Amino acid sequence: MKILLTGGAGYIGSHTAVELLNSGHEVIIADNYSNSKPEIIDKIREITGKRIKAYEADCCEYNQMKQLLSNEKIDAVIHFAGYKAVGESVEKPLKYYRNNLDSAITMIELIKEFNITNFVFSSSATVYGDSAPPCDETMNTGCTNPYGWTKYMIEQIVRDVSVAWPEFSGVLLRYFNPIGAHKSGLIGEKNNGIPNNLMPYITKVASGELEKLSVFGCDYPTPDGTGVRDYIHVVDLAKGHVKAIEYAADNKGAEVINLGTGRGYSVLEIIKAFEKVNEININYKIVERRPGDIAEMCADARKAKRVLDWEAKESLEDMCKDSWRWEQNC
Ligand code: UFG
Repeated sequence: MKILLTGGAGYIGSHTAVELLNSGHEVIIADNYSNSKPEIIDKIREITGKRIKAYEADCCEYNQMKQLLSNEKIDAVIHFAGYKAVGESVEKPLKYYRNNLDSAITMIELIKEFNITNFVFSSSATVYGDSAPPCDETMNTGCTNPYGWTKYMIEQIVRDVSVAWPEFSGVLLRYFNPIGAHKSGLIGEKNNGIPNNLMPYITKVASGELEKLSVFGCDYPTPDGTGVRDYIHVVDLAKGHVKAIEYAADNKGAEVINLGTGRGYSVLEIIKAFEKVNEININYKIVERRPGDIAEMCADARKAKRVLDWEAKESLEDMCKDSWRWEQNC
């Protein structure tokens, strides 16, 4: 298939581009580079040795995207493009609602116009709110921040479109906590400024760029008191997209699928694993809880196995090793 990746130069998009190319698909990237760099396209070429075409384009701009779709005969779209900083979304909710909803609606309008029936959307486990883990796809949803609500609303839009457009197939992928990087060390997560997420912060402490990691709270009802999350290697996550878009091509309707490992690790377990596998000491201190955080989040990953024949393969050690390799290279 010829697959358009919106936001394809970003962290998850670039890894997905590599896996799609390695699986024999053709990839077209559309990115406005608001949170990524055009150089990533060359890295994807370098890793795969394959041809890839990229457009500098904004998914909110109907005419730009229409031009792209007129130039290329696209079979399927994976929509990654969107803002993703939880904290910023609380401070600037309209920026998030405008951009994330506008880009998704524009893309869905256009795929309807061009009769492109295969669609995959980057959703997030954040839509489970603080439901008791492990979370399966039938559980109630609700969010705690505007970023999360944009994911929730776009999921609903896709479900509604699937009712009104019987030929349409939309897969809503709920990501848990992606970490790690490609084993080549050529692509990974790029942060402008101080990272908000755990693993990028750990790697910056390891490199000496940041002095000390703050562990947010040690009094959660978890085995060691620190927050537990379902960390998933970004390459596993990318492979899940290959399965999802191939599933969309053979099916109709809207389908929600978790992409997680089904196994949670605490903050202290992550620090210890990172220290052990990379033989580096991580300087940390325990501080107050971070507002908005939940104790535990973990996927019920059985539906992905059943429906997509996909499951995460990489270990926590791989995630820690690959994150550190990328940090040293980037
Ligand atoms: N943590 C620290 N110190 C830090 C950063 C994080 O102790 O400097 C802790 C958090 O308190 C939490 C865990 O590490 O217990 C993971 O935190 P992250 O910020 O890495 O990830 P979150 O689970 O908070 O959020 C992530 C994504 C969201 C997404 C959500 C889905 O950032 O975009 O997972 O569940 F919505």
